[in-house]
Amino acid sequence: MYARIAGVGSFLPGQPVSNNDLVQRGVDTDDDWIVARTGIKARHLAEPDCTSSDLALEACRRALESAKTEVDEIDLIIVATSTPDFIFPSTACLLQSKLGNHGAMAFDVQAVCSGFVYALNIADKFIRSGSHKKALVVGAEVFSRILDWDDRATCVLFGDGAGAVVLEASEKPGILATAAHADGSHHGILSVPGSICGGKVVGDPFLRMDGQAVFKFAVRVLADVAKECCEVAGIASHAIDWLIPHQANIRIIESTGKKLGLGMDKVIVTVDHHGNTSAASIPLALDAAVRDGRVQRGQKILLEGVGGGFTWGAVLLEF
Ligand code: UT7
Repeated sequence: MYARIAGVGSFLPGQPVSNNDLVQRGVDTDDDWIVARTGIKARHLAEPDCTSSDLALEACRRALESAKTEVDEIDLIIVATSTPDFIFPSTACLLQSKLGNHGAMAFDVQAVCSGFVYALNIADKFIRSGSHKKALVVGAEVFSRILDWDDRATCVLFGDGAGAVVLEASEKPGILATAAHADGSHHGILSVPGSICGGKVVGDPFLRMDGQAVFKFAVRVLADVAKECCEVAGIASHAIDWLIPHQANIRIIESTGKKLGLGMDKVIVTVDHHGNTSAASIPLALDAAVRDGRVQRGQKILLEGVGGGFTWGAVLLEF
């Protein structure tokens, strides 16, 4: 028995906000710098009253439609997010309520930009154990809420969005191998080091990052975890049809592709359209490539992510 992707959906809020729009809004930056250093041309920013579960709802509706699945068939909902609607209940429970599903197991996964591959890995275990049959696995973020708009080294990089898949038990091949790791000793290079205590913010509620340290770490572990996953599945890394990496920076993506022996014609890139949407970036890229016909049934796809924690992981699947 495999866990197989039955449908995919995604959602980006509002109109794209270009690099020049950010300049107009007063960010001390320029289009040339952002494009050259990151590949990002635009991002989407949710309105203040729009939450991660709102974005997830739209992505899930599209995924359910593409899977031809009714919402009451879903018995597991996992939302990967680092920007939950509330401290509790989980964004997964709020999403469940908005979807009108009753009784499915629902919980959040907090692994920042690796969240979607962590969640897919977990859902795969539930489905292959036989305990659950149909899961919604979602990455949903409103990272714009935790950006310091006076910190040009971070605020230009991130955006909001959501992506989702319906994962179902199937005798046809689906997820072939998974790998996931963390090393909390690197927590200081990418974090939002704040919390709430006694009704007040304690510490710093904004995203802080040592960009160069993150860059070096990401390039190393993304290549390693992709190779590890391919080894588990017994597939040479250059033999996969599509690499769909976390969409943070085109230079990280290019360097990972090179290390794996994959030309850029085998790598899905959407970072230019929506920037780094953390846990949402991989399902956003997957959905774009499924809808434009590049990703086809039967192809071997490698999804991989890296993020705060530090966390990293990969999922190799036959689509
Ligand atoms: O999900 C994981 C999330 N994070 C990432 O993937 C980020 C990984 N890191 C990176 O992508 C890169 O390190 C950045 C894009 C964040 C930065 O690129 P960099 O090549 O490492 O630049 P830098 O931080 O070394 O800064 C170079 C220069 C500095 O100016 P000086 O000191 O050389 O005069 C910065 O002040 O670029 C300047 N700079 C900017 N200039 C225009 C930094 N941010 C900006 C900006 N616009 N937005």
